[in-house]
Amino acid sequence: MMSTLTPCLWLFLTLLPWVTSDLIPRITFKYGDPSRLIERFTQKAVHNYDQLVLSPDGETLYVGARDHLLSFSIRTSAIQLTNQVPWPATKGSIDNCISKAKSSETECFNFIRILAPVNSTHLYTCGTNAFNPACTYLDLEDFSMPRDANGAVLTTDGRSQSPFDPRHKYTYILADGELYTGTMNNFQGNEPIIYRNLGNKTSLKTEGALGWLNSDASFVGSFNPQGSAVDSKIYFFFDETAREYDFFEKMTVARVARVCKNDLGGEKVLQKRWSTFLKAQLTCSLDFHFPFNILQHVTIKNQEDWPTGIFYGVFSTQWQVGGLRSSAVCLFSLDEIEKVFNGAYKEQNKEYSKWTRYMGPVSDPRPGSCTGGKFPDSDLNFMKEHFLMDEEVLPMDKKPVLIKQNVQYTRIATDTVQAVNRHNYTVMFLGTDKGFLHKAVLDGTESHIIEELELVVPQEPIDNLLLVPKKGLLYIGYSAGILQVPLANCNVYQSCFDCILARDPYCAWDQKFQQCKSVRSQQDNWMSWLQDIERGNPNTTCPSLHKMRKPQPNSMPIKEENYTRPFNMILELSCPHRSALATYSWRTPNPAGSEGQMLTTADTLVIIVRSDTLGAYECWAVENGYRYAVARYWVSGVSSTGVIKNKGDSDLDGTASSNMAERDFYQQFVVVTVLLVLTLFGCVALALYTWKDKVRTKSKIQGCSTPESIKLSSNNLQEKRLLNGLCDSGGDLSRPCCMPIARPDIKMDLDNNSVGVS
Ligand SMILES: *[C@@H]1O[C@H](CO)[C@@H](O)[C@H](O)[C@H]1NC(C)=O
Ligand SMILES: *[C@@H]1O[C@H](CO)[C@@H](O)[C@H](O)[C@H]1NC(C)=O
Ligand SMILES: *[C@@H]1O[C@H](CO)[C@@H](O)[C@H](O)[C@H]1NC(C)=O
Ligand SMILES: *[C@@H]1O[C@H](CO)[C@@H](O)[C@H](O)[C@H]1NC(C)=O
Ligand SMILES: *[C@@H]1O[C@H](CO)[C@@H](O)[C@H](O)[C@H]1NC(C)=O
Repeated sequence: MMSTLTPCLWLFLTLLPWVTSDLIPRITFKYGDPSRLIERFTQKAVHNYDQLVLSPDGETLYVGARDHLLSFSIRTSAIQLTNQVPWPATKGSIDNCISKAKSSETECFNFIRILAPVNSTHLYTCGTNAFNPACTYLDLEDFSMPRDANGAVLTTDGRSQSPFDPRHKYTYILADGELYTGTMNNFQGNEPIIYRNLGNKTSLKTEGALGWLNSDASFVGSFNPQGSAVDSKIYFFFDETAREYDFFEKMTVARVARVCKNDLGGEKVLQKRWSTFLKAQLTCSLDFHFPFNILQHVTIKNQEDWPTGIFYGVFSTQWQVGGLRSSAVCLFSLDEIEKVFNGAYKEQNKEYSKWTRYMGPVSDPRPGSCTGGKFPDSDLNFMKEHFLMDEEVLPMDKKPVLIKQNVQYTRIATDTVQAVNRHNYTVMFLGTDKGFLHKAVLDGTESHIIEELELVVPQEPIDNLLLVPKKGLLYIGYSAGILQVPLANCNVYQSCFDCILARDPYCAWDQKFQQCKSVRSQQDNWMSWLQDIERGNPNTTCPSLHKMRKPQPNSMPIKEENYTRPFNMILELSCPHRSALATYSWRTPNPAGSEGQMLTTADTLVIIVRSDTLGAYECWAVENGYRYAVARYWVSGVSSTGVIKNKGDSDLDGTASSNMAERDFYQQFVVVTVLLVLTLFGCVALALYTWKDKVRTKSKIQGCSTPESIKLSSNNLQEKRLLNGLCDSGGDLSRPCCMPIARPDIKMDLDNNSVGVS
């Protein structure tokens, strides 16, 4: 598809409004929320916990951080530091690094880039060593490195294995004692390489002069899938500027490359070079949208289960509309990738320098195939020019399984969960560049995001994810430490319908104990357990619910409170919007509306305690067709003589004694109202401003409301126009008008019955 796009079409695409579907996490857990208990390891002097590796027995976590190697025991639920050894950059390298104008504060360190268990007693490790890559072995018995007589760590040259620059992406995989790496091979960072060494096979590399890799190739993953048809192959994932397209703008494409483990290189031709290097384009796009062309990370599922092996790629896009980034997840089957590698080659026409499909004869065995034999020189010469496949690898179902606006994913890890109905569901854990984690469930060809966890404050990217399914844990590496996150906390769902609406395959409702429990806790006896991942319909799943008219008393509401307040006092009633997928509405004692009550932010109702505002207030949510009460309040007033008034009581006392105060107060109320309406309009303006980005979504803008969910209680057109004018003249609609949401300008003193606006 892409190859037929003309620059004009591209221009057209650029002008297309960015309209697409978006997924909203159902529940967001803020940083430090006790319902998602997170273990955290940090050490003041140690930064950049980039490498996370599990020991073969699954009981030890090895961590490569800046200038340090660490190990943790994960036998217990807490993470325990068991060993730590410093491995700083050498003095000579640091001096040289600084003299080449690199930063002594951020760059001239030893960033660990490779940490690979070579046998039961040793890890092979490489680091950037202040722009002078070095490698060594770590003896796990005493957690030590070989040292010379002066105590300096003995290292070997780490060039072609670790990048020089800590910002460059890299990948490595250990297979049959050989280390395969994809990295930058020079100080300048313009010579990418795919390299093999360490074992006793010939060291091989990509040929720089032949343009097999563009100078900006950026590696994000490498795999050696198991299974008879593919275990002889290593796959590399990266992106690079495409040379086969001549667009008016530089075009990045995602790629998969393949080399054979049994490659020996050529003798005269392609000596010490790969003789089996092939690459193909990966496409992740949706019709009429910018392609997701930047590959952030890749993981593999069913590694052992050829041909069902599936790669999960996280993409972002080179084109940002209105400064909004977005991400997509595309699935690629190993089967499909192999089909493309077995298809037609591309070649460059020397005269016009155009890339076209190669139509000539192909020898047998195919050049680039992993047949294991030595290729004749004619085939090797053919390989020098025919390393790009003609077909693109299309994602499964020809489209992304997940698209998320305004978020840049950095990492992905996948897990398989067997649900109560014995179906296996894929759960994707996605780290963002702002320190969030999204947990998404793949449901057929689409996904839903169950929860969003804010993990790192202040915002820092998630640098690494390591899933340990057996322990139900996810390890996360970031600049300041590592985190241990349980894959689920089913306890947060306190009723059957909540548990079902969550659609979390890790959780099911245990009817016997009336609890939302982890499915892993009791895999053999799920007789009385309820779950509905596909539809999340409590009506049909929770048995007692549909028989009862009203929600069960023990199920809800989340909040229930009685307020007795002096007349003319302002009272804020909150309706926690826990599920972002629900729509919320209030039931008030005065359905026609009273000037003493108004909606401020989406989840707060502000009332003045008056005779016509007393009574019951209920906030209801409708989610997935199911209606439930979220909050219930009973408001009664107390007059100056101390008599408590409920709704329906004679209000003579209340009104008479507080008439004066009421008038005074009323002026203040108007001021407050104007401020609040101002807030609302700010939000409406912001919502309209981003509306085109979210047309088909039910999204909620954080802190603000989408236009349709705002019910304006004021119909004063004059006021609206005035406020619109105010917001318009402000220029930047997004911030100033939305700011008062926290309303630091309004101080309320409940005891003294006073409201202050500063
Ligand atoms: C493991 O590898 C290291 C480094 O190559 C080597 O020195 C050591 O003897 C090996 N140990 C075993 C048990 O193979
Ligand atoms: C190296 O080669 C020898 C035989 O040539 C073999 O026995 C040994 O297993 C090889 N080592 C590795 C790490 O592949
Ligand atoms: C789900 O996965 C388990 C192994 O984890 C496997 O035994 C089972 O057959 C799978 N079920 C289905 C329906 O694929
Ligand atoms: C609140 O008041 C109502 C009516 O007076 C009463 O039925 C209810 O039990 C009270 N609830 C609480 C939580 O005090
Ligand atoms: C659930 O039941 C309620 C009434 O009990 C009904 O109004 C609603 O449409 C049902 N929802 C679904 C998804 O079946």
